[in-house]
Amino acid sequence: MSNPPDKRLIEVDFPLEAVSLDSVHEKNVRHGHISTLHIWPARRPLAASRAALIATLLPDPGSKEKREELKLRLAGRVVDAVKKKGGEESIVRETAGGILHWGRESGPDLQWFREEIRKAYGGRAPRVLDPFAGGGAIPLEAMRLGCDVTAADINPVAWFILKCTLDYPQRLAGQALRLPDFALADRAFMTDYLKARGMKPAAIKAALRPAGATVAQGENHSLFDHAGKVGAGETAGGLVNVDPALLDADLAWHVRAWGRWVLAEARKQLADYYPTYAEYCTLKPYAVVPLIRAEEDMLRLIPPNAAGEANDDILNSAATPSISPITASHAGWPSPPSPTSGRAPCAARTVVPNYRCSRPPGSTPRPASAPA
Ligand SMILES: C[S@@+](CC[C@H](N)C(=O)[O-])C[C@H]1O[C@@H](n2cnc3c(N)ncnc32)[C@H](O)[C@@H]1O
Repeated sequence: MSNPPDKRLIEVDFPLEAVSLDSVHEKNVRHGHISTLHIWPARRPLAASRAALIATLLPDPGSKEKREELKLRLAGRVVDAVKKKGGEESIVRETAGGILHWGRESGPDLQWFREEIRKAYGGRAPRVLDPFAGGGAIPLEAMRLGCDVTAADINPVAWFILKCTLDYPQRLAGQALRLPDFALADRAFMTDYLKARGMKPAAIKAALRPAGATVAQGENHSLFDHAGKVGAGETAGGLVNVDPALLDADLAWHVRAWGRWVLAEARKQLADYYPTYAEYCTLKPYAVVPLIRAEEDMLRLIPPNAAGEANDDILNSAATPSISPITASHAGWPSPPSPTSGRAPCAARTVVPNYRCSRPPGSTPRPASAPA
């Protein structure tokens, strides 16, 4: 007996094994996956989201034979493949065909599914609402299937991830917009960017504004309001001296720039809640650091600088006076062991509390300036 026509495929059948295999495989994808934009707990695999959406949106075709056909198109076949690793052969279960496996999502059958979904809803793909959208896997896949999507989440971080996953790529893909001024003043960012644009290190050095240059807060803090601001022959507000056309960057570079901005802002605002300690260690890489040491070698609380960064130059300044102009205001700080004292040269190394290396039994040194 056939099912009533209003049943969906997912209520009758689902290619569970194939979906699971492709979902597990996708969890190991490190390049190009939305999870690499920002971590989000309980993020659903794209393969499982795509399969669940298709099986929910399409009606059950009504017979076992047609269901098998539909499942094959969606998820392919589960096969045993012979894999070689370290000279050893093993049998691995995997899928062949379908549109669920990472890299096969845009195969010709995707278009077929889009059309079937439209047909099932009178010629127009339905609206999909995900009110708990988190990392955005379900709305992203609904968009891929041609649906009109609304995604929401109570968490502002999830909201921002959703914006960057669902909204900005649609509006900005394929466009080159001028980098914001705060990015132009970020030497590390601009060095990577100009290198990627083909400039040589010496030309990059000459083009960048001197270290320490800053951009007023609030300047250019919008992705959209500064496109085309710099004309031919001008420098970008004196920040970078290159052909202005070079400062028009694609979306990926804007995401990197704004990611650094968010990180810098978070660091500034949270620095007081995550104090950093430092201790001296040998400069020789991987050398064993003696753990029972004199009082002056113990962990010290490092006050954050204006950017919220731990500044262990404060500790090192006593050994290398040229490093830090703030030495005087931290006159009470100990001198690091000097190279002439018979020990290996040392530098301050920052240590996150609770992640310190283990100490021998009976030795329990305490951070010298740790808050009570
Ligand atoms: C299991 S996660 C969703 C994961 C998502 N499907 C994905 O693939 O990434 C549940 C989400 O619901 C959100 N949430 C919890 N309570 C909410 C509420 N009252 N309104 C909106 N979102 C809420 C959480 O912030 C969380 O991101």
